[in-house]
Amino acid sequence: MLGIIGAGKMGSAIITGLLKSKAITAGEILLYDRDPRQYASLTSVYPLKTARNIPELVSLSDICLLAVKPQDKENVLKEMSGIGKRKLVVSILAGIPTGYLEQKLGKIPVVRVMPNIGIKVGAGMSFYSPGRFTRPADLKKVARLFANLGEVSVIAEEKMDLVTALSGSGPAYFFLLMEILAEYAQKSGISKNDSAKMARQSALASALLTKSEPAGQLRAAVTSKSGTTEAAILVLEKAGIRKMFGSALKAARNRARELSL
Ligand SMILES: NC(=O)c1ccc[n+]([C@@H]2O[C@H](COP(=O)([O-])OP(=O)(O)OC[C@H]3O[C@@H](n4cnc5c(N)ncnc54)[C@H](OP(=O)(O)O)[C@@H]3O)[C@@H](O)[C@H]2O)c1
Repeated sequence: MLGIIGAGKMGSAIITGLLKSKAITAGEILLYDRDPRQYASLTSVYPLKTARNIPELVSLSDICLLAVKPQDKENVLKEMSGIGKRKLVVSILAGIPTGYLEQKLGKIPVVRVMPNIGIKVGAGMSFYSPGRFTRPADLKKVARLFANLGEVSVIAEEKMDLVTALSGSGPAYFFLLMEILAEYAQKSGISKNDSAKMARQSALASALLTKSEPAGQLRAAVTSKSGTTEAAILVLEKAGIRKMFGSALKAARNRARELSL
């Protein structure tokens, strides 16, 4: 049984992604959120099981997946005390080290995962790091679970801040670019629908094409000498887009470090 604590954006995305992938059935998921309204839309579509409280969820689950906000961890961990060594705890809490969870929960297997919102549509990227008491079989279980939601990769825990900035926040950077394109199109007289569609198709095509060719190579191929794309890219390069983006990523990484314990 997969127990999920927290049915917010990420908890719901994981459930939706897993059920869509058919990796797991609704009957194999046990859900708990302190506010039942959070999962009402999920349970109205899927016959998910819900627990009455955290101790009940822990006792009935083999894997306990923590999907609450980092600031809510204390209450949740307190209610999980006494969790047996045979359970596997998976945490997606940004900035919370496995060592902290082990200190609160005891010598139990813990895996820390940094997914991104792409998991909702099977296009996620999830980095994971083992804790001190994680067995190879536990790690395999987590890798297999998240592989149903997109790509997975194991990473040293000290790099978690870095992948949080790059990958956890990654989709937001592309959303921003899509927003800019669509806003400009709309302001220039293109319908709202076509503006959004155009931005989406550009992003989708770019992502699909980079599966077989590196991004830089593709960009060079569509940037003809003295053409329209070159005119735009020259403006961006002159404005220092690479440096600006580098600073943005550094800020995200520093913030992730600040939020870490
Ligand atoms: N959003 C992302 O793109 C992203 C990416 C990677 C990792 N993460 C991590 O994913 C985690 C969840 O983020 P989110 O955006 O899904 O947060 P969210 O939408 O706020 O969802 C968290 C849910 O947990 C519930 N909750 C809080 N305390 C609880 C308790 N004691 N018992 C049961 N349920 C409780 C919250 O209820 P209330 O609404 O009542 O507080 C809320 O429904 C965070 O730790 C975040 O760092 C997020």
